[in-house]
Amino acid sequence: MRERKWAATSAAEFTDEGAMRRPEGFRQWVFVGTTVTPNEMNKGKAEFPEFHHVYMDRAGFAHYKRTGTFRDGTVMIKELAGVASKQASSGAGYFPGGLQGLFASVKSRRQHPEAPGNWGFYGFGLAPPYEKTAEVEPVKNCVACHQAAAAQDLVFTQHYPVLKAIRAAAGGGESR
Ligand code: HEC
Repeated sequence: MRERKWAATSAAEFTDEGAMRRPEGFRQWVFVGTTVTPNEMNKGKAEFPEFHHVYMDRAGFAHYKRTGTFRDGTVMIKELAGVASKQASSGAGYFPGGLQGLFASVKSRRQHPEAPGNWGFYGFGLAPPYEKTAEVEPVKNCVACHQAAAAQDLVFTQHYPVLKAIRAAAGGGESR
């Protein structure tokens, strides 16, 4: 029953072989925050250059809003954009250029029964419209850093003002 419900409501889809299909329409999901690691502040080559736009699927967000937790089936997206200029009419700063990378994480007991928090991590490449499918990443590529440094259930909620506001409103404060 639970399996069926998950399948009906999760934004994540997988091939029969277990690869994740590139989510469609994620730019219309809930935008939870942006970080920026400019190349020039990272010895010319940031690990994920440079803007990181983070989205969360709508059903996952609705659940988070209600409970402050990530439900089974949650999909998180990180899409990269380069720095195009450092000056605009609003002042000096970092102003984004083109989109240049798509990464995702999915919390799924079914797909990742053994993984920490049941999270699986995926990379869809650097050139839009990106790859159609992605294999789950080996643990060493992604999980260890998320497990060590993310504030809540392997998700970097400490960097997402929208999620922090929800926890603050619920009286939960910040977990890190
Ligand atoms: C060295 C640390 C590190 C590694 C390795 C890493 N990440 Fe992350 N990841 C972060 C940080 C920090 C954030 C918070 C937003 C940001 O700054 O990008 C993040 C955010 C994310 C998000 C948005 C949801 C969340 O969990 O906060 C996704 C999706 C993601 N990473 C996917 C990946 C994938 C896929 C890999 C492996 C290919 C990976 N990450 C490897 C540090 C890391």
